[in-house]
Amino acid sequence: MKHVKLGVNIDHIATLRQARGEKNPDTVEAARVVYSSGGDMVVMHLRQDRRHIQDSDLERVRSEVKGLIHMEMAAVPEMEKIALRIRPDSVCLVPESPKELTTQGGMKLDGKNSGLEKIIKSLAKAGIEVSVFTDPEPQAIRAAHNMGADSIELCTKNYAAAWGKKLQAKELEQLQLAGFLVKELEMELHAGHGLDYYNVASVARIEGMDCLNIGFSIISRGMFVGLKSAVSEMKRLIQ
Ligand code: PXP
Repeated sequence: MKHVKLGVNIDHIATLRQARGEKNPDTVEAARVVYSSGGDMVVMHLRQDRRHIQDSDLERVRSEVKGLIHMEMAAVPEMEKIALRIRPDSVCLVPESPKELTTQGGMKLDGKNSGLEKIIKSLAKAGIEVSVFTDPEPQAIRAAHNMGADSIELCTKNYAAAWGKKLQAKELEQLQLAGFLVKELEMELHAGHGLDYYNVASVARIEGMDCLNIGFSIISRGMFVGLKSAVSEMKRLIQ
C-alpha cells in the first residue's frame, strides 16, 4: 500500500502556551517529537490575528529543527511576505475569517481570484509547494489547478461531522470522487480537518491519497498518552 504522509498540526501547542503567555509548551520541542515519532511534517497555521502560532514559532522551528514545515495561511500579501522570508517547504492557502473557532471550509473559487493566483505563482516561483484547501467540489479543484496549485487539500469537515450518521457514506464518496479528479489533473492529494483516530482510516484509503494533515485530535490525545504515542498511533492508523 502507498505511504500516506502525516502532517501534524501543532497550532494548539501554541494555544496552550498563549493561555499563560509563557514559554511552555514549546513548539520547537513539539516539532522535535513530531519528527521523531513518525510525523512527516509539522503544520503551522499563522493566523492574521496571531491567536496561536506566532511568527517566531515558524522562525524557530525553521532554524532549530531539521524537518519539513507546512504552513497554512490566508492568501493575503502580509502572509505571502512572511512565507517568502521564512521559506516553509510547502504552504496551504486557506480561507480565514476573524471570529471563526477554526477554518470553516474550503476556499470559495469563483473565477475572480486574481489575488490568489498571484500569490500561488509567487510562492511557486520561490520553490514553495502550494496547495489550496477546497471543499470536495470539481469547480473549486479545477480552478485551483488552473491557477497553478501543485496540490489540493480536500476539506474533510463535513465527512467528520457526518461520522456515524446516515450521510457518512455520501460524504466519503464525495471525497473519493474529488480525489479521482485531483489525480486526473496530476496534482498531489491531501486531506484534513476534523480527522481523528476513529474516522481517519477510510480517508487514508482513498485512492491516490498522498498526505493527511491532522491537529486537534492528535494534540488532544497527546495530553493523556504523550505526544510521541499520539503521533505514532495516528501514523500507524493511516498506513
Ligand atoms: N487542514 C487545514 C487546511 C486546516 O485549516 C486545519 C485546521 O487548522 C487542519 C488541516 C487540521 O484540522 P484539525 O485540527 O481539525 O485536525
